[in-house]
Amino acid sequence: MSKHVLALEQFDRQQLQSFVDRAIELKSERKQGVRHEQLAGRTICLLFDKPSTRTRVSFEAAMYGLGGNVIFMSSKDSQLGRGEPLKDTARVLARYVDGIVVRTFGQEIVEELARYSDVPVINALTDLYHPCQILSDVMTVIEKKGALENLKIVWIGDGNNMANSWIEAAAIFGFSLTLACPQGFDPDEKVLARSKERATQSITLLRDPVEAIKDADVVNVDVWASMGQEDEQEERLELFQPYQLNRELLAKAKDDAVVLHCLPAHRGEEITEDVLEGPQSVAFDQAENKMHIHKALLDQFID
Ligand code: CP
Ligand code: NVA
Repeated sequence: MSKHVLALEQFDRQQLQSFVDRAIELKSERKQGVRHEQLAGRTICLLFDKPSTRTRVSFEAAMYGLGGNVIFMSSKDSQLGRGEPLKDTARVLARYVDGIVVRTFGQEIVEELARYSDVPVINALTDLYHPCQILSDVMTVIEKKGALENLKIVWIGDGNNMANSWIEAAAIFGFSLTLACPQGFDPDEKVLARSKERATQSITLLRDPVEAIKDADVVNVDVWASMGQEDEQEERLELFQPYQLNRELLAKAKDDAVVLHCLPAHRGEEITEDVLEGPQSVAFDQAENKMHIHKALLDQFID
């Protein structure tokens, strides 16, 4: 198995399924009050270039929950912010800690860190991918729907990092995925092509959200402007309006469809307050599951 977690496409179905299964087990053990100490004496460094509430705290809680320690460093407070090369940073950090969890802009940044790091590097979001989040989301779908097979899973909105990782998940887990993205906001072309080649079920890219959501079992939405795209926020507001998940649009999905949002949500933009707070929303279970998935990954990847 790959030593690092940079993208879902590095793994096969059995490996991804084992992370989810382990997370489900750890979640149940936590409810039973089981204590874990397998990472006692180990330390990870969280190296973050972008803001985070859920990912940071859930990784930290996961590491402490397995008996380990965490050092958080924002890039701007490190010498990276003053131009120290990534390859030097990776080699130095790897001499202090047992794993590096990175949230940054370019996917090439996590890849370069991984190339020079003797310890595992875990991608906690880049502009291209959000792999750990999608594992939490897949876990949530399995909890709510029992299995991934025969579900219609839909993505509505920007073809962003979340959409790209969902596409890879569809290809590897073998479920069908329908996306509706506005023209000019498609998922990454290469990710889509590679995933379609690997997929056993359909991965369909549409423009019309109404057509996409019809009879959906699972509906995913995310912010219209991701971190780093703040200057496009105004322009996107108008363009993405038809892609808002409101009661009217959701009514076209199956009655028992679940709504996923990785959070943070912009109420009144990509999702309305009543849908996010409504009975079909599982956003807060998703948020909880991030911690269980992160535990499963740390348990698997940190020696
Ligand atoms: N969903 C997610 O990654 O949230 P944060 O940006 O708060 O970490
Ligand atoms: N697509 C969003 C996800 C936030 C968790 C972003 O990159 O900002």
